[in-house]
Amino acid sequence: MTGTPRTFPADFLWGAATASYQIEGAVDEGGRGPSIWDTFSRTPGRVLNGDTGDVAADHYHRMADDVALMKELGLEAYRFSIAWPRIQPTGRGPANPEGVAFYSGLVDELLAAGIRPVATLYHWDLPQALEDEGGWTSRATAEAFGEYARLVAEALGDRVWLWTTLNEPWCSAYLGYASGVHAPGRTDGAAALAAVHHLNLAHGLAVRSIREVLGDDARVSVTLNLHVTRAATDAPEDRDAQAQVDAVANEVFLGPMLEGAYPERLLADTAHLTDWSFVHEGDLAVVQQPLTALGVNFYSTGRVRRFRGEAAVGVPRADGHGDSAFSPWVGCDLVEWLPQPGPHTAMGWNIEPQGLVDLLLGLHERYPALPLMVTENGAAFEDEVSPDGRVHDERRVAYVHDHLEAVGRAIDGGADVRGYFVWSLMDNFEWAYGYDRRFGVVRVDYDTLERTWKDSALWYREVVRTRTLVPVEVAATLPPVAAASEGSAPR
Ligand code: FCB
Repeated sequence: MTGTPRTFPADFLWGAATASYQIEGAVDEGGRGPSIWDTFSRTPGRVLNGDTGDVAADHYHRMADDVALMKELGLEAYRFSIAWPRIQPTGRGPANPEGVAFYSGLVDELLAAGIRPVATLYHWDLPQALEDEGGWTSRATAEAFGEYARLVAEALGDRVWLWTTLNEPWCSAYLGYASGVHAPGRTDGAAALAAVHHLNLAHGLAVRSIREVLGDDARVSVTLNLHVTRAATDAPEDRDAQAQVDAVANEVFLGPMLEGAYPERLLADTAHLTDWSFVHEGDLAVVQQPLTALGVNFYSTGRVRRFRGEAAVGVPRADGHGDSAFSPWVGCDLVEWLPQPGPHTAMGWNIEPQGLVDLLLGLHERYPALPLMVTENGAAFEDEVSPDGRVHDERRVAYVHDHLEAVGRAIDGGADVRGYFVWSLMDNFEWAYGYDRRFGVVRVDYDTLERTWKDSALWYREVVRTRTLVPVEVAATLPPVAAASEGSAPR
């Protein structure tokens, strides 16, 4: 590292992100109803080591201490999600006062700490009762989501700074209903496409509800995990494979949400599976709503080519989205995913920050008036606690450093990137991988539930404090911080 470290704009927002099922625990408390992730995680064989979110990081009981920790970290914004089954235990009906009280308390605590609340309405914990009626394959779920959004806007709208309707609808639809590695674990490509549309519709209905309650100035966003994939060669068939993936992964959300149409190519590629009759007249006008910002989650990149072998033998699929005999790439039967060169994280995901530069610049070029935010970025590594009690997670520090450098380069190139949220504030339930994969900048000891700052947290605090890209080597030299619950002094 030479020269002066990069500086970020004065109004660039520094945050960290979590999600309800991944951290809260207390699944049977406060009148919460069961979600599809309770059912899925309790089904043998679905989650590594049989882990469930029953306790998770116990955030439900430690909320105030966790906010104190965020304050100590210097966070300017905190991206959390609201568990729909805490607000409506069966996904319908009046708001459950205890559920509202929990999030209201969180929001108040954040505001008192000077941290902006960024609330996601759906980060995958669908009320099980709605799944029993068809889940996202059913239009009624989208309509119920619009009502749920209205209840939450009424309860918290005076204090939430930015709303996010959905987190990564790609995962909800394709991992949930096509490859089945996420809840509800279904493996039906046509069902996944219906889920896609109902998630898009749910987004539009929720934006409308929020603006009906809070007015047109309400700040609303959506978070997508857009896939940065590249064609393995310039051969037309490989470029075509890439375009096919782009349609089913990215355009399927960007098209309806930002341009009011599904890509023709996707309709053609999936015509053998569905006639898309679940798209009703007028739906696309509902889906396409003005947004305050587009949230972008970024972790890694992919490489594809047209499969030239015998499909019956199996098409290699090194896409990083978990093992399943069923592909999440609906309609892409002859697309082959190639292993990516390293380095890789503990998820097996390759590390390629240039992908984030390309993604942000590409989005800006296409939607110049739409502000962007990196709403998730981070890495799982096999952390070790050193004899001195510290976690010297230099690879995580380097990962975040290099991706912040990427954000900076995108800003230099003209992209309107307004903020960055590291995934994650603390170790948590990593979906199908349970507690085995740690993404936190703060370590959670799952026996004692004690929180310990990893070097990445100490380093991130310096970045936020100085608004500069502090060199990686500095991390290990920063003095440790006592857990907030042990009464550490404010900075
Ligand atoms: C994203 C999810 C988030 C977390 C990270 C690692 O896909 O939104 O909950 O699991 O991946």
